[in-house]
Amino acid sequence: MYNSRITGLGYYVPENVVTNNDLKEFMDTSDEWIQERTGIKERRWIDPKTGDTTAVMGAKAAKIAIERANLTKDDIDFIIFATLSPDMYFPGGGVQIQDLLEMPTIGALDVRNQCSGFIYSLSIADQFIKTGMYKNILVIGSENHSGGLEKSTRGRGVTVIFGDGAGAAVLSRSEEEGKGILSSHLHSEGKHAKELALIGPSTERWVPEIMEANDPEDTSYFPHMNGQFVFKHAVVRFSEAIVEGLQANGLEKDDIDMLIPHQANLRIAQFIQKKFGLANDKVYNNIMRYGNTTAASIIIALTEAWEEGKIKDNDLVVLAAFGSGFTWGSVVIRW
Ligand code: UT7
Repeated sequence: MYNSRITGLGYYVPENVVTNNDLKEFMDTSDEWIQERTGIKERRWIDPKTGDTTAVMGAKAAKIAIERANLTKDDIDFIIFATLSPDMYFPGGGVQIQDLLEMPTIGALDVRNQCSGFIYSLSIADQFIKTGMYKNILVIGSENHSGGLEKSTRGRGVTVIFGDGAGAAVLSRSEEEGKGILSSHLHSEGKHAKELALIGPSTERWVPEIMEANDPEDTSYFPHMNGQFVFKHAVVRFSEAIVEGLQANGLEKDDIDMLIPHQANLRIAQFIQKKFGLANDKVYNNIMRYGNTTAASIIIALTEAWEEGKIKDNDLVVLAAFGSGFTWGSVVIRW
């Protein structure tokens, strides 16, 4: 069996910065509330005039990752694309990447696992590489949240949290023992699906039904989150996923060189940091600048940490996520 290693990383965020104070233009909120509860200072929201979309941002991040892997688009064998905000209801965004990057007719798979999307995608890519089926896989997480948020006081509990952006990684075959992805663990608990969900438009609540009802009180086509319920589950599941990953490899929490938690809420990341007794330089957070970018959040943070020289050869890097589904999981990497 082969190993898989991350050989290229890239990210792209829209230029348009939206500060907490900017949000006050269309909702009753405050910089103080947002920072205190979430740690977020600003986020990026697409300016539609720029032409950025979920797929376009994903393609921009992917180009950087492929170049940094010292590969060309023609060396990529497979695309895995994670998003909850695809440009189209169907088909998925993976095929758009194939087209935008003018790649050969390789396979393209979409992953629908929200905040855990990148963890699931990395795990899938790892399996394809381990079995020898593919050599180089492009894994992308990209989100255009801003287009679908409820920009009013009614939606403030959700809207202030989410930002747009994309990240990409190239996962490549390696024969070096003990390096690369050591393990991945994936979980779900569908009974909580509606605690963090966008119900319509869907076949459960289809567009004609929504249009016919024409109900100004209908919020089914905006994301809904039972914030405190999600928070309580997040802290437990994050911890479990990290412990599971460490134990599977006979490692201890002191072995962690860098923990990159999904950027859901700075308070969740700080809780986990404290629980595992990790020093500040062993946890990477950027939610302050980008908000929660769901499937893109871990890969953007991983790329930034790597660009800043915070991830070095042989470091033990732990990625962990929890979110809508509920889904959660971890990936343990020997860099
Ligand atoms: O990435 C996927 C996973 N997601 C998560 O892990 C998120 C987990 N949950 C959270 O991060 C937090 O629950 C939130 C940040 C979403 C909310 O924080 P909270 O401390 O749970 O606040 P809350 O929803 O209980 O609301 C408290 C109060 C309410 O007012 P009343 O009823 O006490 O008068 C809200 O209406 O804060 C109000 N509120 C706001 N006020 C100002 C809610 N949103 C805002 C806002 N600005 N943006």
